[in-house]
Amino acid sequence: MRILAFETSCDETGVALIEAEGGLKSPKFKILKSSVASQIKIHAPFGGVVPNLAKREHLKNLPILLKKIGNKKADLIAVTVGPGLEPALWTGITFAQQIYKAERKTNKKLKLVGVNHLEGHLYSFLLPQKTVRRETLDVRQIFPAVALIVSGGHTILLLVKDLKTWKVLGETRDDAVGEAYDKVARLLRLPYPGGPEIERLAKRGNPRAIEFPRPMIYDNSPDGEYDFSFSGLKTAVLYYLRDPKNPNTSELSEKHTQKFGSFGWNSGHSDRLLADVAASFQAAAVEVLVKKTIKAVREFDAQAVILSGGVAANQFLRATLKKETGKFGVNFLAAERKYNTDNAVMIAAAGYMAYLRKKKYPLRANGNLGI
Ligand code: KG4
Ligand code: ZN
Repeated sequence: MRILAFETSCDETGVALIEAEGGLKSPKFKILKSSVASQIKIHAPFGGVVPNLAKREHLKNLPILLKKIGNKKADLIAVTVGPGLEPALWTGITFAQQIYKAERKTNKKLKLVGVNHLEGHLYSFLLPQKTVRRETLDVRQIFPAVALIVSGGHTILLLVKDLKTWKVLGETRDDAVGEAYDKVARLLRLPYPGGPEIERLAKRGNPRAIEFPRPMIYDNSPDGEYDFSFSGLKTAVLYYLRDPKNPNTSELSEKHTQKFGSFGWNSGHSDRLLADVAASFQAAAVEVLVKKTIKAVREFDAQAVILSGGVAANQFLRATLKKETGKFGVNFLAAERKYNTDNAVMIAAAGYMAYLRKKKYPLRANGNLGI
């Protein structure tokens, strides 16, 4: 089955065409075309995504990307209906409906399905990879699995029984981990989106330089053991940077401050210190994510850990989680890095899964859709 998919939930416009086959036990995908237009440059001056600008850009980009993809002939059209920014989601839904209407004139069997963006992330590990052999995706070897979805809007831990059954074990009570990366990046005067910037800066820093809090890490209460909280960690970084007692040896470069502005404290911070802050923040965030994931692996005797979402592109998180799962003989599964951040290939795959599961999401933007 050939699937054409559209993704417009946030600041990336994605269009993709894939070929899918196999049932719910062993779906197989072939990526035919994928195109993503990032709006980073447009939103960067505002330090975050501006919904109406996102909408305008999606409207502009969708026909351009579809033209790039070329062949529109598909058996199924899949479009993200939520969660995300509703004005942005609507552009994708309306566009998909228009294409569906036009194509149905000559293809009566064509179907249109709504896709849950979080399921797109969750299923992204099923996408083909150059370095992973097919056999590692034998479902008999991966379930039950623990899945960690980490993005700009979500931090969710799932217990996955099979490709259509899962349970939410916990989620963030305040900021998502990607949001924490983005906010800490702003404090360090780094451009949006902050995740990749923090990761880069952290490589030069000492992760043990500053003891930032690990929120909820030892929470063993039944309603908190798998929940997360990242807003306190971000605030701890802010207080650290503001505290005149902390070592700040030289001025931030003039250019840097001019570009990103001052955030309310006067003292300059040395590059060394900023790298230490980035590395120490990252160490704290990753330690909480990994500890809770491993705790779930042990409690539920999981055979695999599935990592997805934009923050899954972070090499430190990937490497740490892989190392820890390895200690328990547990498989570590994650899509290639380019399919961790928002894209339409994962939406096409999730569209196929929704079709197999007969899962019908209404074709209406739902900003708060859960998984
Ligand atoms: O999944 P995604 O593309 O969009 C949402 O569904 O939210 O995730 C975007 C988030 C942003 O917060 C971004 O800073 C973060 O993923 N991110 C990273 C990295 N690449 C993207 N965070 C840490 N390290 C990275 N390399
Ligand atoms: Zn996403």
